[in-house]
Amino acid sequence: MKWVIAMIQPHKFDDVLLALKAAEFLGVTVSDALGFGRQKGRKEIYRGAEYLYDFIPKVRLELAVPGERVAELIEVISSAARTGKIGDGKVFVIDLERAHRIRTAESGLGAL
Ligand SMILES: Nc1ncnc2c1ncn2[C@@H]1O[C@H](COP(=O)(O)OP(=O)(O)OP(=O)(O)O)[C@@H](O)[C@H]1O
Ligand SMILES: [Mg+2]
Repeated sequence: MKWVIAMIQPHKFDDVLLALKAAEFLGVTVSDALGFGRQKGRKEIYRGAEYLYDFIPKVRLELAVPGERVAELIEVISSAARTGKIGDGKVFVIDLERAHRIRTAESGLGAL
């Protein structure tokens, strides 16, 4: 199992959610986030000896999925979130050791 974290542009949130639903990725956790990538915010602004870092609003999606669906999930998210311009976002994947459904006490893939 994997834990997939996607940072996307807020205006792409609805498109990504629809795409996830269509592809039957049924569980997701969503939160607002602030961040920056390579451009350190819209652009690097030089002020005296300092760089100003601008934090840009993003939406963070987090999904627990079977390992075999990770490639498909990345494609679904990327297709829906891409504009082709800087700041489109990123997807990170980490190993997920365990999942547990509280109501039924199911563990592992059955708990997803
Ligand atoms: N190395 C990183 N670690 C943690 N979060 C990151 C990292 N890179 C990007 N992010 C998060 O992803 C968001 C979107 O990043 P962004 O798409 O601008 O990445 P990028 O590497 O600058 O690519 P691009 O050149 O396409 O803009 C950031 O606002 C930040 O929240
Ligand atoms: Mg960037």
